[in-house]
Amino acid sequence: MEVATADSATPVSPPAGGLPPGPDWSLPTLTWRWWRRPLQTLDQCQARYGDMFTYRLPHEGTWVFVSDPEVVKQIFTGDPRLLHAGAANIVLLPVLGEHSVLLLDEPAHMQQRKLMLPPFHGKRMQAYREVMGRVAAEEIDRWPADAAIRMRPRMQAVTLEIILRAVFGVEEGERLTRLRDELRRALGLLSQRRRVIFLVALGPRRIRSFPPFRRMIERIDQLLYEEISTRRGTPDLAERDDILSLLLQARHEDGSPMSDRELRDELMTLLVAGHETTATALSWAIELLSRHPAELAKLEDEVESGDGEYLDAVIKETLRLRPVIALVLRKLVEPMEIGGRLLPAGVSVAPCIYLVHRRPDIYPEPERFRPERFLERPAGTYTWVPFGGGVRRCLGGAFAEFEMSVVLRELIARRRLLPVGGPEHPVRSTITNVPSRGAEVVATSR
Ligand code: HEM
Repeated sequence: MEVATADSATPVSPPAGGLPPGPDWSLPTLTWRWWRRPLQTLDQCQARYGDMFTYRLPHEGTWVFVSDPEVVKQIFTGDPRLLHAGAANIVLLPVLGEHSVLLLDEPAHMQQRKLMLPPFHGKRMQAYREVMGRVAAEEIDRWPADAAIRMRPRMQAVTLEIILRAVFGVEEGERLTRLRDELRRALGLLSQRRRVIFLVALGPRRIRSFPPFRRMIERIDQLLYEEISTRRGTPDLAERDDILSLLLQARHEDGSPMSDRELRDELMTLLVAGHETTATALSWAIELLSRHPAELAKLEDEVESGDGEYLDAVIKETLRLRPVIALVLRKLVEPMEIGGRLLPAGVSVAPCIYLVHRRPDIYPEPERFRPERFLERPAGTYTWVPFGGGVRRCLGGAFAEFEMSVVLRELIARRRLLPVGGPEHPVRSTITNVPSRGAEVVATSR
């Protein structure tokens, strides 16, 4: 009997032409639903159209959502010259600046990313442990023991302080104090949806000349440039292990150091990308733990014994069930076959973190908070994607997971968590999906 091989007998079907189906709502409806109810909209579209569907948004163009891990893999491992991520983040240009690793593509992106990798290498994390623990402990010790507290603002304070100290490596000083105040103001503005909608409507290039915005950025820039110039002249630069000092010692392939503009843009990128995201993830972890006494008790036992396996699983499960960012985007530079379909140039494909994490074939009972699933099976590269993937994977992923573990450990060791009211649901705050009441808990003394 002749055995048919894949080569000889399986008909190779050409990719289906054009975009996959998607909702035929009017543009205002598509926009309204995306801004007001993004996650419910994703659930609805997935139920109706499956693992690949088209969604259109004014200003943003056409997005093709993807939630099959094989197709997500195809995108994350695809040629970065043809799949642009920087272009999709252009809205951040006025704040981050044109050298930001988040906004670049092609060789310029890879060069900048290489320069920034060393401070975020897994092994370096230990250098930040002490400062992370201290910042968290000082913050937690200020909380009342018998009143409900909204965790999100508290975690924002913790993560801003940690990233400032990790980046600049200084504890106190007039410049750090001013920088902290200015950044708090700027980042506060960026988390107000109405203001952001207004700024987005101005368009990324016009925002910079909008006077209140320009003045705010100029004040921050002045402080950053002063810090960069002082640090350049520090005699012990080579011994320092803060991120700015490491970036000052980094060299381009031609041997040249990073310019002040490059440094300013990357510092801003780290401060913006590393603050709100981690605060949101921590708030969700606390909200979920407060409502799951059995899982919380397990974690308390583990923290006492000093291990970290269950804590790691709690962090993984939090980022699975409540991913801070719902999707990432890659814009097609030329027509490309994705998931068996030939998609036209100019379309953005969107590996959908939220939908991948809710697949019942990978995560049975996907709505349940069950950290044990990550003890039974390790997180998969293309099935657990809270930090995106491929050459654009979040630079601060290891930093964020480490920071979450240090902060949660300090919290669990000091306080007992009790829930307030019913479970909170994710609501949109500019880019991240945050707990609807700010993760309200009572944290009694232990
Ligand atoms: C829980 C916390 C965090 C989450 C959920 C998160 C998530 C993400 C995601 C989804 C991306 C886009 C990846 C892609 O397009 O494939 C990203 C990129 C990035 N993140 Fe994070 N992030 C977090 C914390 C941080 C921290 C702490 C830092 C820095 C200190 C950071 C720095 C960056 C940078 C620089 C990029 C751009 C990477 C590139 O384009 O090459 N993030 N992050």
